[in-house]
Amino acid sequence: MQQTQRGLSLVGSGSARLAATLSNSDLSQVVDTSDEWIATRTGIRQRQVVTAQDSLASLAAEAGTAALAMGNCNPTDVDLIILATSTPDDLFGSAAQVQARLGASRAVAFDLTAACSGFVFALVTAAQYMRLGVYSTVLVIGADVLSRWTDWSDRRTCVLFGDGAGAVLLRASERDRLLGFELRSDGTLNGCLNLTYQAESQPLVGDTTIQTGTFQPVTMNGKEVYRFAVKRVPEILEKALFHAGLTAAEIDWLLLHQANQRILDAVANRLAVPAERVLSNMARHGNTSAASIPIALDEAVREGKVKTGDVVASSGFGAGLSWGAAIFTWG
Ligand code: UT7
Repeated sequence: MQQTQRGLSLVGSGSARLAATLSNSDLSQVVDTSDEWIATRTGIRQRQVVTAQDSLASLAAEAGTAALAMGNCNPTDVDLIILATSTPDDLFGSAAQVQARLGASRAVAFDLTAACSGFVFALVTAAQYMRLGVYSTVLVIGADVLSRWTDWSDRRTCVLFGDGAGAVLLRASERDRLLGFELRSDGTLNGCLNLTYQAESQPLVGDTTIQTGTFQPVTMNGKEVYRFAVKRVPEILEKALFHAGLTAAEIDWLLLHQANQRILDAVANRLAVPAERVLSNMARHGNTSAASIPIALDEAVREGKVKTGDVVASSGFGAGLSWGAAIFTWG
């Protein structure tokens, strides 16, 4: 008799290749900044942006296709697609468009919005369906095109972000490779990082007014978010490690949301994780929001750094404010 598989394994990863790259010196022609300032304060050297031919859905589908290929999985085997994004092509959601592009005709698909924590939140959400035995093949995609919502005249934010998409394929397995997690939100700090809807009242009929308006570009209190990240990220990683029955000394890779190299260094320092065990690709991609963790994971897997059986401690953090950590074994 076949044993019920109530665990999950991470068996494939993928990311989208974007054609257009903006270097720090390109940006110094847009705002009053320099390669020296950006590289020293953030570790970022360049980032990619979508071109007119691409969309959030096309990037997400490209990443998903690559993850399916690595996991030797047919699109029609996928039961569930969770698309972590804060920048959909359609406010009603972009996951169904991704499902159609992938040809994952059996899969139910939905968007999950948790900004830069989105991938970790989506991974943990997917795991709950799998542990209940509801779904056994799940694609978790993190994708964002913040270039659409960046104020390109604001040097404090426009130098930070890049566009991208990354994906992970999960398969049901007897042993559960998600070893521990912890998720948090604090809406009292919501004003630190926003992409808000600005309403304008319009009279409609009689005394009734309706709201029309549009979303406003990203605003961030960088110093507050920095302080929040260097305090909360080590704490939540320690909690998730505790749930996993592990210590920081036992992890093979620290995989943080790629917001700022100084944040990665500070968190690694707090946890006494040596620099060579910290995955970092922000010099090449900038901060790609929900995409940053799966892109960094995919690159590390393809470079042969992250190997089957390696313990990865991941943490996303950002708008909400929200933050989360997931400890997993690759493969
Ligand atoms: O993805 C979500 C999570 N996001 C984060 O975790 C971001 C967290 N925050 C950060 O990474 C950092 O706070 C930033 C990289 C955003 C900013 O670094 P900072 O060291 O906190 O700089 P600052 O905002 O204190 O600015 C220092 C100076 C200011 O000039 P004054 O007022 O001292 O004269 C800024 O006007 O640097 C100036 N500045 C710049 N100069 C050149 C700010 N942006 C730039 C720029 N180029 N792009």
